[in-house]
Amino acid sequence: MTLEQDILARRTFAIISHPDAGKTTITEKLLLFGGAIRDAGTVKGKKSGKFATSDWMEIEKQRGISVTSSVMQFDYNGHRVNILDTPGHQDFSEDTYRTLMAVDSAVMVVDAAKGIEAQTLKLFKVCKMRGIPIFTFINKLDRQGKEPLELIEELEEVLGINAYPMNWPIGMGKEFLGIYDRYNKRVEQFRTEEAERFLPLDEEGGLAVDHPMKVTSYYSQAMDDILLLNEAGNEYSEEKIRRGELTPVFFGSALTNFGVQTFLETYLQFAPTPQPRITEDEQFIDPVEYNEFSGFIFKIQANMNPAHRDRIAFVRIVSGKFERGMNMTLARTGKSFKVTQSTQFLADDREIVDEAVAGDIIGLYDTGTYQIGDTVVGGKKAFQFEKLPQFTPELFMRVSAKNVMKAKQFHKGILQLVQEGAIQYYKTLHTEEVLLGAVGQLQFEVFEHRMKNEYNVEVKMEPVGNKIARWIENEDDVKESMSSARSMLVKDRFDNLVFLFENEFAMRWFSEKNENIKLYSLL
Ligand code: G4P
Repeated sequence: MTLEQDILARRTFAIISHPDAGKTTITEKLLLFGGAIRDAGTVKGKKSGKFATSDWMEIEKQRGISVTSSVMQFDYNGHRVNILDTPGHQDFSEDTYRTLMAVDSAVMVVDAAKGIEAQTLKLFKVCKMRGIPIFTFINKLDRQGKEPLELIEELEEVLGINAYPMNWPIGMGKEFLGIYDRYNKRVEQFRTEEAERFLPLDEEGGLAVDHPMKVTSYYSQAMDDILLLNEAGNEYSEEKIRRGELTPVFFGSALTNFGVQTFLETYLQFAPTPQPRITEDEQFIDPVEYNEFSGFIFKIQANMNPAHRDRIAFVRIVSGKFERGMNMTLARTGKSFKVTQSTQFLADDREIVDEAVAGDIIGLYDTGTYQIGDTVVGGKKAFQFEKLPQFTPELFMRVSAKNVMKAKQFHKGILQLVQEGAIQYYKTLHTEEVLLGAVGQLQFEVFEHRMKNEYNVEVKMEPVGNKIARWIENEDDVKESMSSARSMLVKDRFDNLVFLFENEFAMRWFSEKNENIKLYSLL
């Protein structure tokens, strides 16, 4: 296979969902199809207890978070599939968002009974901003949920994206008979042996064979719905899917392994191949046109194995091929080095990787060399990929060293963890107290743990709570007197002014009183 064919076979995506929608279950089914795991229950370390014996970072053990399945890879129908994990709400952090910078598409799993939930919405917004294609899997059809039309409407209204149902449920819950597959033009029956599972459609779109299902009200309801979709629904457009403006919707039940394979096969046909990325000087690095190795670091995972005190920098390969032993240059410093140790993450194993190509994720052992957003290149041409966006934090914590004698280590630790992207740094205007910002509580816990273990500093943490952070377009017009308890003025790590508002109300009130101040949020 040529390098180009190798690259074009890649599909790299993340599954986004609210906790409990069924992400783990669906991931597991996908890995089973791909032959990457043999038993169900392998992915869900927290419940099967499989990882309890391994020595992962203590905090992860305590909280039952599994970091081992950060990247999963398998082969299916000539494709090489990379699934990047985006953890659930209690382990939610900026990493979760940044992971979405490293994929080419996203699969959104929705619980049919719950519809669009908070976490899904947050993650969706990040995908939308990047314009990446989103494929929707509406799960748990074996249970009674919302009406399918209602779900489609909710999707369109809450998320502001057009939806195109690729298939449609016939019945639901106890009366779930199967799905009407608009795309493959067949009906797939629920809980039916493989040989009889698929029923063909006739030219008018009805079942072409005699079948007891045909006389049920569920079938006629589904047919009515489909007629409606055909006449009044969105038009199918691959172009719009590619631009992230239209989401193809699939129904199914991950737990009973129904509709997952059909989803996977259809998804793989439409999911984008590894996409180009833009450099800081606005050049496109196209994986197919540019043959030299390049990639960027989107995540740094500390202490995956405390026995080695290692850190792993996760690299999304943008172009070319990685080979173990090759020379790489870190664009930020211009330093070159030979990469002898690298890992790939496959379900619960970490394997040494010898080769990987654009679209793949590799892990580089890191002894403090890398920062989030760093570019590594293999060829002579040096360039830097566009900076990864900074995300607007929602949670704040005032921190200080418990022991004032440790001020030096305290600042060193914070500086490094901030550079690594573990947490965001802010300070108050005159007193220069340190405030840390995060998008998820876990970031504070990891911070506290690492300060103690890696920098030997115990930190005092006082919650400042939820705030709405807003940056300012016209900083010169800001006066310090505008700062109050409900609209606190602070500085970020680049010395930009930021208002931390108590809540939406406080922000609106501020804006009404100070119409000339132009506020904006980061991603
Ligand atoms: P998550 O990773 O998105 O958090 O969800 P996960 O797959 O862990 O699924 C959450 C719960 O929903 C699990 O039940 C799982 O078995 C169930 N589930 C997933 N897909 C389906 C489905 O298609 N139909 C039905 N009826 N249930 C589904 P649990 O009781 O919380 O966990 P477990 O003890 O069964 O593992």
